[in-house]
Amino acid sequence: MKLWGGRFTKSAEDWVDAFGASIPFDKELVEEDIEGSLAHVKMLAACGILTEEEASTIKNGLDILLEKAKNNELEYSVQNEDIHLNLEKLLTDEIGPAGGKLHTGRSRNDQIATDMHLYLRKHTEETMEAVKQLQQALLSQAEEHVETIIPGYTHLQRAQPISFAHHLMAYFWMLERDYGRLKDSMKRLNISPLGAGALAGTTFPIDREYSAELLGFDSIYENSLDAVSDRDFILEFMSAASMIMMHLSRLSEEMILWSSQEFNFIELDDTFATGSSIMPQKKNPDMAELVRGKSGRVYGNFVSLLTLLKGLPLAYNKDMQEDKEGMFDTVATLQGSLKIFTGMVETMRVNTDVMAKETHSDFSNATELADYLASKGLPFREAHEVVGKLVLQCIEKDIYLLDLSLKDYKQASSLFEEDIYEVLKPATVVARRNSAGGTGFEQVRKAMDSAKNRIGQK
Ligand code: ARG
Repeated sequence: MKLWGGRFTKSAEDWVDAFGASIPFDKELVEEDIEGSLAHVKMLAACGILTEEEASTIKNGLDILLEKAKNNELEYSVQNEDIHLNLEKLLTDEIGPAGGKLHTGRSRNDQIATDMHLYLRKHTEETMEAVKQLQQALLSQAEEHVETIIPGYTHLQRAQPISFAHHLMAYFWMLERDYGRLKDSMKRLNISPLGAGALAGTTFPIDREYSAELLGFDSIYENSLDAVSDRDFILEFMSAASMIMMHLSRLSEEMILWSSQEFNFIELDDTFATGSSIMPQKKNPDMAELVRGKSGRVYGNFVSLLTLLKGLPLAYNKDMQEDKEGMFDTVATLQGSLKIFTGMVETMRVNTDVMAKETHSDFSNATELADYLASKGLPFREAHEVVGKLVLQCIEKDIYLLDLSLKDYKQASSLFEEDIYEVLKPATVVARRNSAGGTGFEQVRKAMDSAKNRIGQK
C-alpha cells in the first residue's frame, strides 16, 4: 500500500514505480531531509499543533534514523518512491502511527525545496573554500616567480615578455570573481520555502519564521507558489560553476601546452600525470585534460535545468524531479576539479632556465624599441615602421634585436643610442611596464599584496 494509496483502486506495476522513483538518487539528501523534519516538528510543537509528547516521540525516531543514515544502515525501497516517503515509512516502522503526524502542515513540495536549499548552502560554502584553496596555491607559486620571465602571448604568438607571477595571478583574479559570485548567490539561496505547503500555504497555524530560524535561513519566501516552484538558486550555482569550469579549462589548456616538449615551461608532478600503455617515454597531463573535458558536463547540467524549467507552469510538476542528478553531479565535478588543480598548481615544477632562454630568443621586445623612439619624439606610427624593418632585417640574418650593431640601429634612426641594449633586455622590458595592473615587478608585488589581503579577509 502506497502512503498516498487511499484514492487508488489498484496497485501500480513495479516497472512503472521504478521509472517514477527518485530514491535511487535523492537518497543523497537524507540528512538534509531529516534536518528539515526536525525543525518542522519542533515548530509544530511550539505552535501547539502537535503535543510535546508527540513531538518528542517523532524527534527520537528521527534521531535514530539520522544515526542509521550516517552509518549507511537505512534500507530504502523503490515502492516508496522518494526520500521523503521512504523516511516517513521508516519513521512509522520505528515509532508507530505517531510518525504519520510529521507531515502535518507541509507537503513534499516544500520539503524537497527545503532539502535542496540546505544541500546547496552546505556545498556552496564548501566550494567557496575550495576556490580559496586554489587561489592560495596560485599565490604561493606566484610568490616564487615574480622575477621569472616568460613570453606573453596574444593569438598564441609571442607578444611581450611578462612576469610568470603576473600570468598566474590572472587566474587568481578570475577565481576572486567566482568566489564573489558564490558568496552573492547565498543572499538568494539562504531563504526558507518550508511551510509553503503544496502550493498555497496551510490551514494550520504554523510559524514559518521559526522553522526558518531553526534551519539557519535568513528569511522566508514571501510567496508560497514561488517557494515551491523556484529553482533559480540551483541555476545560479550552476552558472557560477560553469564559469569556474571555464576558467579551469583555460588554465588546463595552458598547463597542457606548457608541459609539452614544445614549450617545456613546467613539469607536472607525477601524481597528476599518467603514462602510456604502449609508449614508454610518455608522461601525459591527464588530470588537466580531464578537467578541461569535465567543463562540458557542468555546462550540460546548467542548460539541462534551464530547459527543464522553461515554460513549466506553476507550481510543482513532476518534471522537477529531474533537477537533482545534475545538481549533485555539478557539485561533485566542480569540487573534484578545484581540488585537483590546487594540488597540480602547488606541485608543478617551473623550468625557469627554459623560460629565460625563450625570452631571449624572440622579438617580444620590439614594442619596447618603438616606445623608445616614440619617447624621443618620433610619432609612434613611424617608430612602429622603423622597428618593423629592423625585425625584418633580423629575420633575414637569423638573429634577434639584441644582436644588431649600434651602426645598424643608427642607420635605421639617428635617435638610437647605446642605452637601447639595456632597454631591450627582457627584465628591463618587464620592469618598465609599471602602469597600474601591469606586469612591472613593482606592480606585480603590489597586486600580490592586495591579493593576500583579500585572502586574509575570507
Ligand atoms: N520526489 C519528488 C521530487 O524529487 C519530491 C516532490 C514530489 N512531490 C509531488 N507532489 N510528487 O521532485
